[in-house]
Amino acid sequence: MATQKKSASPLIPLLLILVSLALLATGAWLLLAHFGVLGSKNASKQHEFTMQVGEQKTLEVPFKNSFSCTSSENGVVSFDAATGLLSANNAGQATVVAKDDVTGDSELYLVTVVGSGSVSVPVENTTKATEATTTQSSGTTESTLPPGSVTGISLSFYQAEVCVGSVHPYAMVVMQPKDATDKSEKWTSEDESIATVDKNGNITGVMEGTTVIRVTSVNNPLVFADIAVTVKPAETTTSNTTTTGGDTTNTVTVSTTTDANGNSSGVTSKGFTIEEKDGITYVDGVLIANKTYSLPSTYNPGLLSETQTAFNEMQAAAARDGLSLIIASGFRSYERQKTLYTNYSNRDGKAAADRYSARPGHSEHQSGLGIDINCSDTSFDNTPEAKWLAENCWKYGFIIRYPKGKESITGYMYESWHVRYLGKDLAKKVYDSGLTLEEYYGITSAYQN
Ligand code: DAL
Ligand code: ZN
Repeated sequence: MATQKKSASPLIPLLLILVSLALLATGAWLLLAHFGVLGSKNASKQHEFTMQVGEQKTLEVPFKNSFSCTSSENGVVSFDAATGLLSANNAGQATVVAKDDVTGDSELYLVTVVGSGSVSVPVENTTKATEATTTQSSGTTESTLPPGSVTGISLSFYQAEVCVGSVHPYAMVVMQPKDATDKSEKWTSEDESIATVDKNGNITGVMEGTTVIRVTSVNNPLVFADIAVTVKPAETTTSNTTTTGGDTTNTVTVSTTTDANGNSSGVTSKGFTIEEKDGITYVDGVLIANKTYSLPSTYNPGLLSETQTAFNEMQAAAARDGLSLIIASGFRSYERQKTLYTNYSNRDGKAAADRYSARPGHSEHQSGLGIDINCSDTSFDNTPEAKWLAENCWKYGFIIRYPKGKESITGYMYESWHVRYLGKDLAKKVYDSGLTLEEYYGITSAYQN
C-alpha cells in the first residue's frame, strides 16, 4: 500500500500547479466577461417546456445582476417577477423573456400550456405594464365588454428568427370572437434597436439579440399576443434570395392579405402560407382542423370521395396481406361531434375529454378527411392491422395523425386508429419527416380557453 503512494507522489505537485493555473485563468476570464471587457456579444439562452393549466413553477433565472422580465400572451401565463413564480392560466403558447440589466444577456422561456379550464387573471393586473418590470398578459378579461368586442387573439406562430437586415413575414392573426366588429391590429416592438415591425406585422432584424413583437387589438387594447423574436447575424449565403433588376436582396415573398370578406392570410413559422377562407384554415392549400383552427358549424362535406377512394385502395392492399380494414368512424357532423364530446366530458370531465375527443368544430372527422380504422379506441393498438396501418398508410395518402408521445404538439393522446388523408405526395413527405402535421407546417394545436 505504501509503495503505491510513493510511486504516484512526483506527479502530484505538477498536477496541483496545472489545476491552479487553469482555475486562475477561468476566474480571470469570468471576471473579464462579466464586466464586458472581452467584448463578447450578449448571450441568449432558450428553454422550452410544457405546463398544465393551473400549474405553477419557479423560473430559475440564472442572472447575478438585477434583471427585467416580460411575459406574454393572451392570458396563457402570468409571471410574478418578485417571486419568480410562473402560472399557467390557459391552454396555448407563451414566452417569458428575462434580460440581465447589466450584461444584456437574455433567457427565453417558451411555454406550452396544455389542458383545459382557465385561471382568471384579474383585470387590474393587466394595466401595470408601464410601472412594473413585469408585463402582465391580458387575454379575455372578466369585465363586461360591449357586444362585438375582441376577447382573444391567436397567431400562426409565437417565435421567430430573423437575420440582421432581413424581413420575417407576418403571422396570421385570428381575433376572437369571429364576429367581432373591429378586428384591426396594432403592431409594436419592445426594443426597436433589435427588431422593428411594420403595420402589417412584417418583422425586420436590426441588431443581434432578442425582443418581443406584440400585436394588440385596437378595439380592446387589453387583448394582445406576443412573438418572441431572436435576431441573428446577417446572412452571408445567397440562399433564399431573390434578384430584381441586378439587385440581390434577402427578401421573402409574402402573399397579400385580403380582408374585405374577413378572410386573412400570412405564413406559418416554417414559412408556409396560411390563410383563412370562409372560416376554414388552409396551410399551403391543405385544410387544417385542430385545437387552434376550427371548422364552421355549417361545414358538412360528408366523407370526401378522395378519402373513400384512397381508403378502398388501402383496404384492398391490406386484404392481399391477409388483413381486414374497415371504416369504423368516417364523417362526423358538427352536431354529432357535439353529442360525442358532451357525453365524454360529462362522463370523464372536460380536461380528460379534451385529451382524446375534439370539441365540436375542431374534429378532423368533420372535414371528411379523417377516419378511424376498425374501431375508435385503444383495443386497436398492437393488432396486426395497427402495425400494418402505421407502416403502410402513407403509401395510400394517409398519415397516423396523433402519434405516440406527441400529445403536447397535436393536442391529443396517441390514436393508432385515426388516419388523415393528405394525398400520396404530401403523406410521404410528412411520413419521411417523422413529424406531426403541426410540426411539419409550423403551426399550433391549442384551444384559446
Ligand atoms: N378523437 C379525435 C381527436 C376527434 O375527436 O376528432
Ligand atoms: Zn378519429
